This record gives sequence, structure tokens and C-alpha cells, in this order.
Amino acid sequence: MSVPVPLLSVQGLTKHFSSRGSTLAVFEDVSFEVQQGEIVCLLGPSGCGKSTLLQTVAGLQSATAGEVCFAGRSLRSPHPEMGLVFQDANLLPWLNVWQNVALGLRLRAGRKQGVNVANAVNRSLQSVGLDGFARLYPHQLSGGMAQRAALARALVRQPRLLLMDEPFAALDAFTRRHLQSLLVQLVRERDTAVLLVTHDIDEALFIGDQVLLMTARPGRIEREWHIQTPHPRWRHDEQMLSLHAYILEHLSQHSWVNEREVVTWEI
Ligand SMILES: Nc1ncnc2c1ncn2[C@@H]1O[C@H](COP(=O)(O)OP(=O)(O)O)[C@@H](O)[C@H]1O
Ligand SMILES: [Mg+2]
Repeated sequence: MSVPVPLLSVQGLTKHFSSRGSTLAVFEDVSFEVQQGEIVCLLGPSGCGKSTLLQTVAGLQSATAGEVCFAGRSLRSPHPEMGLVFQDANLLPWLNVWQNVALGLRLRAGRKQGVNVANAVNRSLQSVGLDGFARLYPHQLSGGMAQRAALARALVRQPRLLLMDEPFAALDAFTRRHLQSLLVQLVRERDTAVLLVTHDIDEALFIGDQVLLMTARPGRIEREWHIQTPHPRWRHDEQMLSLHAYILEHLSQHSWVNEREVVTWEI
């Protein structure tokens, strides 16, 4: 039986920066796969190289070594079927919400496929609950609404993979939880895969099918959990809390391991 090609395959990815004659290894030998429809969370402390890794996977930065394959093909520049969402919504202040989301489609790929822009934008806004706010400008939005708009802008092109860099980190706890649930619901409906980087253990355990734990200097993936608990998950589940405590302990001890450990977790 043939094994299906993973949507995203990252093999031996390494990134070094050179400055004033010395070399800084940001991350080394990072390997993982993301399957269609899967949510993979890359969890690690600030400074461990998560953003640089995500940008390298996206083709926005070059790798020192290793390979990124998307749908079986080697990737060296941004792919139209990948959507990006950052911590800052990055909406253009002179365009309203509708126009900002439409920007996501104003690319050759969208036009070539004969996409009906108005329908696609309206549907995307509706899916994130912003259909009544299309005419507002970015300065009139709350942080949560701005992130919904950024999500709508990424989803409007119907990406097969969403790359997200701490998309909810700047939001209050209530809004953050709400948007985490919305994200899980939306990507499940669309069978979209997600690679989300976060330093929030709760977030990774709440949404991730796979949680990859990255430690710093240089960034490496030390542990991976395959969490088979169905959604919606209960945040106060005893086993979730004990896994949370274990990860926190591991990060604060900053112990080093030589072998990557793989755990399948079903609650
Ligand atoms: N262009 C660059 N030149 C040199 N060092 C960099 C550059 N970009 C990032 N770094 C370093 O890489 C490390 C990881 O940064 P980053 O990917 O932003 O981590 P995280 O997102 O996990 O907080 C940091 O120590 C940062 O200073
Ligand atoms: Mg970062």
C-alpha cells in the first residue's frame, strides 16, 4: 500500500545567521510533517527560533541546510496555497475590512481560477463572524476583530496550509479562547492544515493534533505528542493539566535530551 505524501514535509532544516565573523545557529536539524487537515503546534519559549523557522518554512527566508516540501515538491519561495497569519493583524489602515480581505485575492492565482471576488470575500467574512463589520476601518476594530479580519484574509484564498505565528498572543484571555475554538472549527470544516507557533502551552494542548516541543540554542524539536482527544477539548481535564505541568517543568529545567521522544496521547 502506498503511503500518502504529506502536505508539508520539513527535513533537517537548519538556519544560521552570521554576524561580525561569528555564526549563530538559530535552529538545527528540524524535521516534521504536517498532513492534510492536521493542526500542528510548534511550542517553545521566546527566542528559541519559532518565528524564523516559520518564515523559513514559508519560503520567506532561506535555510542554511535541509529541505521543505509542499505537496511533494521542494519549496523555495512562498506558495499561493499557503496562507500566513501573524501576531499583528497587519491590516492596511486606508482600506476597510472588506477591502483588506479582498487583497488576499488580488493576486494572479486568484484571478486565473476565475474566483468571484465579492462572493469569496463575503463568505470568508461570514465564516469569521465579521459580515456585519465589512465597512469598518482597522482603527475602528478591537484586537479580536482585527485578527478575525486577518484570518478571513488568509482563508479567502482557500489555502491548503495556514502558517500562523502566535496569532492570538496579543489578545485578552477570553477573546483568545474564542478565536482558538473558531480556528479549530474553520479548519476542520475546510480540511485545511495548520502549522501554528506559540509559547502558550494551553493553546497548543487545546488545538493541536500534534504538539512539537522546541527548546532553544540552537532550536531543536525535543518531544512530540500526538493528541488524539477529539474537539472540543476540555481545558481542565486532569490528563491535560498533568501534560501541561510536565511541559512547564521540562521547559523550566531546560534539560537536554539526545533522542527525540514521541508520545501518543489519548484522553
Ligand atoms: N536576521 C537575524 N540576524 C541575526 N539573528 C537573528 C535574526 N533573526 C532572528 N535572529 C535571532 O534568532 C533567535 C530566534 O528568534 P525568533 O525566531 O524571533 O524566536 P521566537 O519566535 O521563538 O521568539 C533570536 O535569538 C534572534 O535574535
Ligand atoms: Mg516569534
